[in-house]
Amino acid sequence: VGEPALRGAIEAVEDPRMLHRVGELGMLRELKVKRRSASAVVAVPTAHYGAEAGKELGRRVLEAGAEAGYPDLEVEITLMSDEEIGALTAHLAELGHPPRSAGGSGPSGLERGTVQGPGRANPFMEKASATRVIGISSGKGGVGKSSITVNLAVTLAGMGYNTALLDADVYGFSVPRMMGVTEGALVLEQTVVPPVAHGIRCVSMGLFVDEEQAVVWRGPMLHKALEQFLVDVHWGNPDFLVVDMPPGTGDVALSMAQFLPRAEILVVTTPQPAAQRVAMRSAVMARQLKMPVRGVIENMSYFVGDDGKKYELFGRGGGQALADALGVALLAHIPLVPALREGGDEGVPVTVADPSGDVAAAFRGLAEAIVSLGPARVYRRELSVT
Ligand SMILES: Nc1ncnc2c1ncn2[C@@H]1O[C@H](COP(=O)(O)OP(=O)(O)O)[C@@H](O)[C@H]1O
Ligand SMILES: [Mg+2]
Repeated sequence: VGEPALRGAIEAVEDPRMLHRVGELGMLRELKVKRRSASAVVAVPTAHYGAEAGKELGRRVLEAGAEAGYPDLEVEITLMSDEEIGALTAHLAELGHPPRSAGGSGPSGLERGTVQGPGRANPFMEKASATRVIGISSGKGGVGKSSITVNLAVTLAGMGYNTALLDADVYGFSVPRMMGVTEGALVLEQTVVPPVAHGIRCVSMGLFVDEEQAVVWRGPMLHKALEQFLVDVHWGNPDFLVVDMPPGTGDVALSMAQFLPRAEILVVTTPQPAAQRVAMRSAVMARQLKMPVRGVIENMSYFVGDDGKKYELFGRGGGQALADALGVALLAHIPLVPALREGGDEGVPVTVADPSGDVAAAFRGLAEAIVSLGPARVYRRELSVT
């Protein structure tokens, strides 16, 4: 009990929108303690922070106060001054990049990229970055690429990994809907703080255009947009960045290879033997772009009927055949489950809604397989971007 204890408790509260502590972000403007009563002023950056998040932040601060022995703590949530916002963006820049002291020997042992001060740089190209970028790819639409992206991200987050999600399927984005993203991005000076859903920072073209609106941008504009997604967004130095990769072999795929040179590709296919030829295309493309293909995911592998029997509705063997052709492992069989589609439609991924079900178990197996593969070690001078 006492001022330092209360201050420590409030500073340790995690901000619901920025996913860092109130203390790290400089949000505790004022704290007054008088015997058993206390009052705190906590500042949020702008009105776009949102009433909902403001309420949640207030609730968390009150709870921390009560735990520190101040059940009557009074909390006022207010707006930051321009100077406070300036300090906040500086803090975010620090927190969004690998620590500079990590120098040349990042834990992932990556050899390329330049060490730059935090700020206007793609954090995933920094040498010290330990983020594993996992690109989920497929040869065609409709095989479950986006469903697998969101459920894998949720599963990794549930295992305690700091996980972020990039929807790079700019023409067919579906991540905001599938994740149930309700808030917009928060723009602070040059920094875009992405919305958070199920504990995951999510960025998608869908944050900037309506779902009904077709994206008519051509290559160069999309290239610029994707670059901004990586450079201007506060990604928070995650353990994993899971990417819903653009389909096929177009400009966007090329941009991704340039901006995320360390992406490890997982190819999604369905079980029918013919499907592997289509899936093979995306693997060949990835390899031409020097992105390592790490494994295959077979989706819609089987359906379990009410009788408890497994039905292989789409045949069998497609995933294994593709994995064999690519010389990589088949990492998971994901069952066909109506709840998976429903979860995507409702914005609550099935792995969140039913964490003890069959699908969640399949995704946990997939996540564990990815973790045990370990990061890819690649050196690609020819794709270096300056
Ligand atoms: N394992 C599955 N079980 C049930 N429905 C699925 C499964 N995988 C995908 N779906 C559904 O199939 C449709 C296409 O999936 P989606 O993830 O959008 O594919 P893509 O991103 O490859 O186009 C969606 O309606 C999705 O909910
Ligand atoms: Mg999709």
